[in-house]
Amino acid sequence: MAGAPRLVLATRNPGKVAEFRALLEPAGVEVLGLDPRIPEVEEDGATFADNALKKALTYARATGLPVLADDSGLEVDALGGRPGVHSARWVPGTDADRNRALLRELEGVPPERRTARYVCVVALADPKGRYQLFRGTLEGRIALAPRGTGGFGYDPIMELPDGRTVAELDLAEKNRISHRQAALRQALAALPSFLAGGDG
Ligand code: IMP
Repeated sequence: MAGAPRLVLATRNPGKVAEFRALLEPAGVEVLGLDPRIPEVEEDGATFADNALKKALTYARATGLPVLADDSGLEVDALGGRPGVHSARWVPGTDADRNRALLRELEGVPPERRTARYVCVVALADPKGRYQLFRGTLEGRIALAPRGTGGFGYDPIMELPDGRTVAELDLAEKNRISHRQAALRQALAALPSFLAGGDG
């Protein structure tokens, strides 16, 4: 019988590594970081799934190990789903710059048409090219002005049904409802059979 299942995390973002470890390690998964010598994968896909899968498959082939990768972002309905896969970089500058730009684009749009969601797609892949995808979402609407100091990215303008923005939640509260944790929990549940399937 082999030891603990091992999984490479396809991210160099220390915050994400910590978040993924916190869920996977208590479940008995040995979590490995990405070897810094492995070249970065360009996230040029048209969908979150394209990007997560490209990273997972590329790194699984490069490392010879199973890999977990994710891609996430914000979809705003009044903007036809933008910024979507371009959430991190559609406006140069800081998170606050992007939030201001989004609020400007939505000027005059009433609350009921400001619906939006965070989406996260997690991909599991192995060196043979087998893969599975998992999707988590968090529904909300874009606030009229930023509020709160927690979280990152669009959290100060992402308002939940209870009226608070995501930046007004503490980390434990955010993790209970977040798109990333929802996708990760599904991946964790599927992991034993995914890894077992690799031998067949
Ligand atoms: P990536 O998944 O690292 O490519 O990040 C995508 C981008 O989506 C981030 O840079 C943020 O702008 C946005 N995003 C993803 N998840 C969250 C979240 O939980 N809060 C706020 N912004 C997020």
